[in-house]
Amino acid sequence: MTDLPMPSVLGYCDEWSVAAGETIRFRIGSLTRPRPYRAQLVRLISPETGPEGAGLRTEDVDAPLNGPYAAELRPIPAGSFVRVDREDAVAGLASWTVQALVQPMLRDREAQAIVSTLVAGQRRAGFALVVDAKGALAIHFADGTRISTGEAMAQGRWHHVAASLDATSGEVFLRQTPLPARGFDRPPAVEAAGHAPAGRLPASVLRIGAIGKPGPGPGHFGAWHFNGKIEAPSLADRALSPEEIRALAAAGSTMPPADCLRAAWDFSQGMSGTAVVDLGPRKLHGTTVNAPKRAVTGARWDGTEHDWRRAPAHYGAIHFHEDDLADACWPDTLAWTIPSTQRSGIYALRLDTEPGTPPFWITFFLRPPRGKANARAAFLASTATYSVYANYRARMAPSTVDLAFGALQQIDSTDMLAVVHPELGASTYDKHPDGSGVCHVSRLRPMVNVRPTGRLWNLQLDLCLLDWLEAQGFDYDVITDDDLHREGLSLLENYAVVMSGCHPEYWSGAMWDGLDAWLGRGGRFMYLGGNGFYWKVDYLEGHPGMIELRRAEGGTRAWAETPGEYLHASTGTLGGLWRRNGRMPNALVGVGFIAQGFDFATHYERTEASHDPRAAWMFEGVSEERLGAYGCALGGAAGMEIDCASTALGTPAHALVVASSTGHSKVMNLVVEEINSGFSGAYGGTWPAVRADIVFFETPGGGAVWSTGSISYVGSLAHDGYRNGISRLTANVLRRFLDGTPFEMPGNPA
Ligand SMILES: [Fe+2]
Repeated sequence: MTDLPMPSVLGYCDEWSVAAGETIRFRIGSLTRPRPYRAQLVRLISPETGPEGAGLRTEDVDAPLNGPYAAELRPIPAGSFVRVDREDAVAGLASWTVQALVQPMLRDREAQAIVSTLVAGQRRAGFALVVDAKGALAIHFADGTRISTGEAMAQGRWHHVAASLDATSGEVFLRQTPLPARGFDRPPAVEAAGHAPAGRLPASVLRIGAIGKPGPGPGHFGAWHFNGKIEAPSLADRALSPEEIRALAAAGSTMPPADCLRAAWDFSQGMSGTAVVDLGPRKLHGTTVNAPKRAVTGARWDGTEHDWRRAPAHYGAIHFHEDDLADACWPDTLAWTIPSTQRSGIYALRLDTEPGTPPFWITFFLRPPRGKANARAAFLASTATYSVYANYRARMAPSTVDLAFGALQQIDSTDMLAVVHPELGASTYDKHPDGSGVCHVSRLRPMVNVRPTGRLWNLQLDLCLLDWLEAQGFDYDVITDDDLHREGLSLLENYAVVMSGCHPEYWSGAMWDGLDAWLGRGGRFMYLGGNGFYWKVDYLEGHPGMIELRRAEGGTRAWAETPGEYLHASTGTLGGLWRRNGRMPNALVGVGFIAQGFDFATHYERTEASHDPRAAWMFEGVSEERLGAYGCALGGAAGMEIDCASTALGTPAHALVVASSTGHSKVMNLVVEEINSGFSGAYGGTWPAVRADIVFFETPGGGAVWSTGSISYVGSLAHDGYRNGISRLTANVLRRFLDGTPFEMPGNPA
């Protein structure tokens, strides 16, 4: 951790994979106050590596947008809710009843709104049914009247909540009723009464899960957003009597009698999108804002069904969070129309402020013109994985630093932005403040850790490969996961060779299908990483730039998905590990995730199989006995997260394991999906399967796959001025893969 100030001018781009001839737009602002800055477009060549690598290198790009500017104050409107923007939602109401089922998950917030027509700080008539700072049900009015049950609701328990106002008497009635649950806690129902100002309500936006914010300005993060689940909110256009409310609560129902039904929202409909359906006569439909989690278990879920499509009544809830964020909604600030001659690569708009403050990097990917290739080799940037890791704040938590990351942890002041400004949204490695896992991420927000500086894996380490390609004089295009998801096979078919980065962990089904089809037609793939092809993700329809992920069932993971919520809302298919979805990484690339450890990285040793004539060409000019005992990623080529061959998990029978790592410590732990019950062998690199394997195999279409099975691998390429065994081995493979001579499978592939 450094004492440097945090970058003060931040930004993001509208699309992060763009082609020459297109225009990219940058959205730039300050989270704290207006500030001057200078924008400079650069091509990224080599990352910050420390002494064991080439070090940070960028190339300035001449462009009209380079120059000085002033950044305006741009708060980020984090927090999810449902917005009902209809004149007739509450206009003219004098007496009313508002009800909902709620599962509160967090206390100590000023007013977590369940249903609200208020805008904080404004005195325009309205109400907000809230969980107050004590955790109790309360009703707040615009004139400052506040009535609370005074008793905290049990966190994690479903409650029926209701408030009514009788215009004639001015009487308010409030009741929170714990719903039956397994176990032997019997919290009592609590009622409260009071008086509120009479008068008809004006037309107002109605929000479910939030109170309106008083215009632009920082500092309102988390104050008025609900954290937890809400189900079946409803409005009646008269004051239901206490007896009527008690009877509805006893039945666990919020449906008003037909004579006074004004609105009854059904969250079990339209689960994959943003629409929220009202069953009432006025059809007061709403829209979700900031992608709250849908397809979640509701008050009626009893464990008998796990598929939201088959039991919508069990899935009538939405889980809201104060730090959900789909889109920072900043206006376009600068734009660059990319000249047709601009080469494909990884670029950034660097935002410099005062001396001594680190710059902010808006990284983006310039692909070749659509439908064309400018080189025979392509680097496939792991943009799905970069998104999923974006604004990873849990790694700054002391427990993570000590227990999980060991020597890897290097945090700088740019990383700290994600902690100091939680409104930037989290990564899927984080939990929300209420303890639930983050299952949506968006790239439409400033991302603090997709940059050439900082010392994490992913983009920063991937730039070691680009640096090496430049130094060795190999031509390459840059393409991205986002392109592969959209275009599939047609994106890849113009290339002879595709190279992955160090950690292509997150894959959509469409990405996988595209790579699989291309390999079947003779493509040559170099998987230069570890823990790849691991988790399933979906790109969300209706939310450009967003990815959905559910860490279901098993896997080595930052948090465990809530029982009953293993199916993606976007597709209704099972989330989690691809190996539990019928797709084995080993079958695709020969290796699969086996262990992780972050104390140090080690080296590989050649195997007997490496002398097979099918593979011996790889090692021409490679004389190292301990292959890759150096590098900027923990000091070796084999480490961090490692993969090995396993025919039981699908590695092709004819695959050659040409090198395996040795010398891992006891901190290199077996992945949990290989463990059915705890045993001492899980801890330590002595377990025979705990190794990174370099694997080669030919495919039926004349193609081949070469995998290194280690995140650290590309960090070794630059050692000793690129004159080292890892560099030579990789160059031998890339040259042979670029050679059009078909590979032949051994035996009789027919
Ligand atoms: Fe990962």
